[in-house]
Amino acid sequence: MTDVWVLDGPNLGRLGSREPEVYGAATHDDLVAACEEAAAEVGLTVQVRQTDDEAELVGWLHDAADAGVAVVLNPAAFTHYSYALRDACAQLRGPLVEVHLTNPSRRESFRHTSVVAGVATGTIAGFGLDSYRLALRVIPSLLRPSGS
Ligand code: DQA
Repeated sequence: MTDVWVLDGPNLGRLGSREPEVYGAATHDDLVAACEEAAAEVGLTVQVRQTDDEAELVGWLHDAADAGVAVVLNPAAFTHYSYALRDACAQLRGPLVEVHLTNPSRRESFRHTSVVAGVATGTIAGFGLDSYRLALRVIPSLLRPSGS
């Protein structure tokens, strides 16, 4: 059984060629490898998926809610305006860690709002692929009933 799903939103499949001065040189395949390694280190199995399609991402969140799995979500640009995504996140039964490669608070003002943050367990932003590694590292304690 997969313990945690990593779900990536629009344009993240283009990492490596997308604005490398902002997002770095790592590709989405590198991101997948980093997640698999970080998950294995803490005894979790992980599935990583990326889509540019809001409806598909909402559908995956519904599936995650039904499966009760933990989710690490980089909603990408949807972060800032998708109430549909926020409402799908609110249905999750497991922990939700919102992640960002960059620190949106240091960037353009339209990135300063996250409509997802209010329904996330927590948010990790600004550390590149380490944002994902840190999120996966915290999941086991969030899955323990005591949360300790
Ligand atoms: C991002 C930040 C968002 O503002 C942007 O739209 C992205 C990536 C990040 O990981 O830093 O696509 O979520």
